Amino acid sequence: MHVGIIMDGNGRWARQRGAIRTQGHTEGLKAARRIVKAASDMGIQHLSLYVFSTENRKRAAGEVNFIMGLVKQYLRAELPFCRENNIRVRHAGDAKSLSPDIAMEIANVVEETKALSGMQVILALNYGGRDELVRAFRRLAASGKDLTAVTESDIAASLDNPDVPDPDLIIRSAGEYRTSNFLLWEGAYSELYISAKLWPDWTREDLEKAVDEYRNRDRRFGGVGDSSVHTGGIPVNGEKQ
Ligand code: IPE
Ligand code: IPE
Ligand code: MG
Repeated sequence: MHVGIIMDGNGRWARQRGAIRTQGHTEGLKAARRIVKAASDMGIQHLSLYVFSTENRKRAAGEVNFIMGLVKQYLRAELPFCRENNIRVRHAGDAKSLSPDIAMEIANVVEETKALSGMQVILALNYGGRDELVRAFRRLAASGKDLTAVTESDIAASLDNPDVPDPDLIIRSAGEYRTSNFLLWEGAYSELYISAKLWPDWTREDLEKAVDEYRNRDRRFGGVGDSSVHTGGIPVNGEKQ
């Protein structure tokens, strides 16, 4: 199973406590740690975390730099945790326009964990669904592909992590009913789960509740009732639940 999470609400969490936004991001990082561990314990195979969007670059430089600093610290500190839990880290997004020190940190953790066979954590950092598609088309064009005959599988094969199955479930915390440019292509048929709870407050139980609810959904993929996939207990994308 592949779960994607739009980790939203750090700023509101801080505001509710009269704290500055960056405090919310610090707590949001702690929640991300809890949820990665919970997802790994639950046997989820792929977990995509929306860490920073291409549109988040519009924010004040102080906030952007703070988030990048947190990410850098996290990547360094979590390597032993990844090894202990057999977690492979991957990146989705535009690595080229990240600052070189962050890009290097990501490349390092991706390389150091590439042979680990447990859960894959895909960090969507400097990620936008539209930007990913633009980069995919550029890759296709550069490969000499005849773009007048391009197919869905050509495009899918040119995305950032082409071997990762489409997300089965996309979760959003903090109550907004939108996907904000997350996994635009891959999420075409993902089930959506929106929770009002702000991201820094998320615990293992919240993830379990979302996955339980997903198990009661009927996925029809454009077909009719009798061809639907009832997700409960049924392998999705050929994987174990
Ligand atoms: C999510 O929390 C973290 C990022 C987008 C980087 P926000 O910072 O968007 O928090 P709110 O939406 O302002 O509460
Ligand atoms: C989406 O949250 C991006 C991340 C969680 C990284 P935003 O806070 O940026 O989304 P909008 O602005 O509310 O759509
Ligand atoms: Mg937000």
